[in-house]
Amino acid sequence: METIKRIGIYGVGGHGRVVAQIARACGYSEILWIDDAVKENAYDFETFKTAYADIPVALGVGSNAARQRVFEKLAAIGVEPLTLIHPSAVIAADAAVGCGSVIMPLAVVNTGTTIGEGVIVNSGAVVEHDCHVGDFAHLSPKVALAGAVRVGLRTHVGIGSSVVQGVSIGADAVIAAGSAVIASLPDGVMAAGVPAVIKKELRQ
Ligand SMILES: CC(C)(COP(=O)(O)OP(=O)(O)OC[C@H]1O[C@@H](n2cnc3c(N)ncnc32)[C@H](O)[C@@H]1OP(=O)(O)O)[C@@H](O)C(=O)NCCC(=O)NCCS
Repeated sequence: METIKRIGIYGVGGHGRVVAQIARACGYSEILWIDDAVKENAYDFETFKTAYADIPVALGVGSNAARQRVFEKLAAIGVEPLTLIHPSAVIAADAAVGCGSVIMPLAVVNTGTTIGEGVIVNSGAVVEHDCHVGDFAHLSPKVALAGAVRVGLRTHVGIGSSVVQGVSIGADAVIAAGSAVIASLPDGVMAAGVPAVIKKELRQ
């Protein structure tokens, strides 16, 4: 008899549905949805936790700041969100992936790299050797980080962007889609273009 493997996914939006696809590919056959705002076909977390205390929870929230809030809410009651790695992703044996992170199809995380907690490494992203990706960051689809790149806490690297080796991008930064980052960037800026230049300071 086939065993039902259940998982709770926190966040019913587009990103949550993508995370559900990864959970299915990882062998979870039944998805239970959790959401603070959407009530239809979803549990609020307190009800879910009471009914399904032993079922793992993955983070399906796309916004970096909101994902961090959910992570901290879970941590406050001793719940560690599940790390999900799609079977087609290639993760070096000595790379580390923090709890609550999701590694999507065809992503590569190379040797010596550390991926923080609650990170999204989206479809086809390549994170080369000895990089560090900070907690709650998001590397969009097809991002390419060369060796020894650092990406700060909650930073979003937009779809298709490239970052050359050794560059550091600060915390709470946004790199616009299709950019090429060739020099380090401070915290809290939006940078865009080829090569990327700072377009604005972002208010937190
Ligand atoms: C950067 C982004 C968030 C827009 O931010 P914003 O603060 O609304 O930016 P604005 O539209 O006000 O543009 C500010 C400047 O950046 C430029 N810019 C914005 N996006 C750009 C891009 N992708 N490439 C080059 N320049 C860009 C604008 O032309 C403008 O330039 P100017 O000031 O010289 O006229 C958006 O363009 C983007 O790239 N998002 C990433 C989306 C993504 O990767 N999604 C994947 C989810 S899985």
